[in-house]
Amino acid sequence: MNAIDYEIGSAGPEDDGEPDQRVLGDMEQIRPLPRISIHAFCETDAVSRVMDRMAEDRRMSKVSLRINGGGIAAAARMFSQIPTPNLIIVETTASPHNLLDELSPLAEVCDPATKVIVIGHHNDINLYRELIRNGISEYLVAPVSMADVLRTVSGIFVDPQAEPLGRSIAFIGAKGGVGSSTIAHNCAFMISHLFDSETVLADLDLPYGTANIDFDQDPAQGIAEAVFTPERLDEVFLDRLLNKCSDKLSLLAAPSLLDRAYDFSGDAFLPLLEILQRTAPVTVLDVPHVWTDWARSVLSSADEVVITAMPDLANLRNTKNLLDALKKLRPHDKAPHLILNQVGMVKRPEIAPADFCEPLEMEAAAIIPLNVQLFGDAANSGRMISEIDGKSPVAETFSQIAHLVTGRATIKKEKKGGLGKVLGMLGRK
Ligand SMILES: Nc1ncnc2c1ncn2[C@@H]1O[C@H](COP(=O)(O)OP(=O)(O)OP(=O)(O)O)[C@@H](O)[C@H]1O
Ligand SMILES: [Mg+2]
Repeated sequence: MNAIDYEIGSAGPEDDGEPDQRVLGDMEQIRPLPRISIHAFCETDAVSRVMDRMAEDRRMSKVSLRINGGGIAAAARMFSQIPTPNLIIVETTASPHNLLDELSPLAEVCDPATKVIVIGHHNDINLYRELIRNGISEYLVAPVSMADVLRTVSGIFVDPQAEPLGRSIAFIGAKGGVGSSTIAHNCAFMISHLFDSETVLADLDLPYGTANIDFDQDPAQGIAEAVFTPERLDEVFLDRLLNKCSDKLSLLAAPSLLDRAYDFSGDAFLPLLEILQRTAPVTVLDVPHVWTDWARSVLSSADEVVITAMPDLANLRNTKNLLDALKKLRPHDKAPHLILNQVGMVKRPEIAPADFCEPLEMEAAAIIPLNVQLFGDAANSGRMISEIDGKSPVAETFSQIAHLVTGRATIKKEKKGGLGKVLGMLGRK
């Protein structure tokens, strides 16, 4: 797709708000966008108006769109303070000669997973090629119509050929009761808060799941309907099953009832995982401590696996077995992350973290102390640790885990030298 062709055959010289029948017909082909976050930075009123109209389009109903004044410099300023969203749309009036230089401060603060669309005022094929080579997802030439922008965003996030939007992170305990669910819930909450990223928490522990209690929700049996009636599962049905926990966090809750047996075939959860991957940037999977065909297949298909263990011998043995089994199931993926939890119980003989990790030949991604008061308060009041005490070291640990599992190394953005390298940070999308 060549964005420069757009202008030649586009809706008209200026998007004046008048619906053009040809464009409307064309727009019907565009599918609703998934739950992504977009920040737009507009230098001119015309582009700002296009964004305003786009915000009202039905295909944008799941999208969180913020429209800001100012161009690249305003974007770079904003994202030196806060994480970048799934997509940045930035208008610039800079000349082709200066554009790469002007983009450099934005590239420095841009997360590699963030896509960038540039709306420029120069119809220059060399500039277009240069920008695409440097990781810009698309370059549109103003004047642009709403259909142009929507079609371009859709091309990045909806097209069957587009790379999958969502990242899934599965949490499992090395033994029952080690705190795997608590950690999964707190991490999901952190990810949704820290990164302005729409997150779905799926509770796969159908008979006993606690996500509904932990978030003080009384929802319908979200996940049960999804796995027992896979033929009904589409984006609209999924929407009805999700329960909103906070601005950016939705819960697919377990029934937590024993009125039936929960036996699943090996691939029972796969249709659900696939649709979640298409609709939400992040899915956190709370996998119970079982070793069934379906649990193995969920763990095989997740992008990241987090094993939580307590520091005793049975946990060590089980962690070792889990690591070995997962290595066979996911030979081409990264090793799981290990979290040691409930460490430091007074008078309990424990295996020291270093001794626990040594035979596993890995480092623990986090060591969380036993803190009966803090975790007890959170569990009993239906709130997350960071809501109870946002300054506690445990809340900071959850923030670090959230960064790690979403591929965001540190909170501080590192400055890198050299334009090519800097623009390389935008990543080739
Ligand atoms: N670091 C901690 N300090 C104190 N209590 C904790 C800690 N981590 C978790 N807990 C508590 O341990 C209990 C078990 O936690 P959780 O249900 O998350 O474990 P799980 O591994 O998911 O268990 P299950 O095997 O039942 O799924 C909860 O009451 C939780 O509040
Ligand atoms: Mg659990």
